[in-house]
Amino acid sequence: MTTEVTTSPYRIDILTIFPGYFSEFVREGIGRIAAEKGLLRFAVTDIRDFTDDAHRTVDDYPFGGGPGMVMKPEPVCRAIQKVLEADSVEVRRSPETRLVILTPRGKVFDQALARELAGAQHLVLVCGHYEGLDERVHELATDEVSIGDYVLSGGEPAAAVVSDAVTRLLPGVLGDAASLTEESFEDGLLEYPQYTRPQIFDSHAVPDVLLSGNHGKISRWRRDERIAATARRRPDLLARASLTKDETQLAERLLQEYKNEKERQD
Ligand code: 6GU
Repeated sequence: MTTEVTTSPYRIDILTIFPGYFSEFVREGIGRIAAEKGLLRFAVTDIRDFTDDAHRTVDDYPFGGGPGMVMKPEPVCRAIQKVLEADSVEVRRSPETRLVILTPRGKVFDQALARELAGAQHLVLVCGHYEGLDERVHELATDEVSIGDYVLSGGEPAAAVVSDAVTRLLPGVLGDAASLTEESFEDGLLEYPQYTRPQIFDSHAVPDVLLSGNHGKISRWRRDERIAATARRRPDLLARASLTKDETQLAERLLQEYKNEKERQD
């Protein structure tokens, strides 16, 4: 089946010294779905193609001394200029083009930022390596993004994470199920547990309520399970969840129960 696309596809450009890292993105999964529907143009640029010496050097010693190497500004900037099809690398913080550097010093990526980036038209993801990029490259970025408080050897896994989270939000890429999951995450509660056949697996049975055919009861059970899961695993999220008075009481009772349980264990 082919789908007519009237607007131009969303563009993701990845700038990396390891282009092979991304070769599967449009061959499998969400990247492939989006590309096949004509909703995504995904391109990987090898920063080394923009070096001008025989060794294709992308790094150099830091001014002022210290350990490690720094990525030279020229090859990265030439690569940025190419993907922006621009005479200069000046990028205004525009809603259409986001020039993102993946770096542990960046803003921590979340669903709200994924949504914001998905609202642009062109996303350029620059993967840093070694001890980092020359600060003059950072000055060009519209955004600096980290995917969490841990250290990666380079920005590539982070660029893959951002590409996935943004691509699945592009209009038309996924159906209704995804948008409902989105909403449920954004309402600050974790998902309810899911079951499929067989009804009894390894002597563990599916909860009776799900087989009852009573949709009111099923909805209530799922909502309570979401509150319980959030209270147990991510109590930090409960603060921004909007709960009814009864639900707030349930949450408070469960928080206390889980706290007592934990104290007994310690
Ligand atoms: Cl974006 N880069 C690196 N090198 N480490 C990270 C990261 C990014 N996000 C979390 N850790």
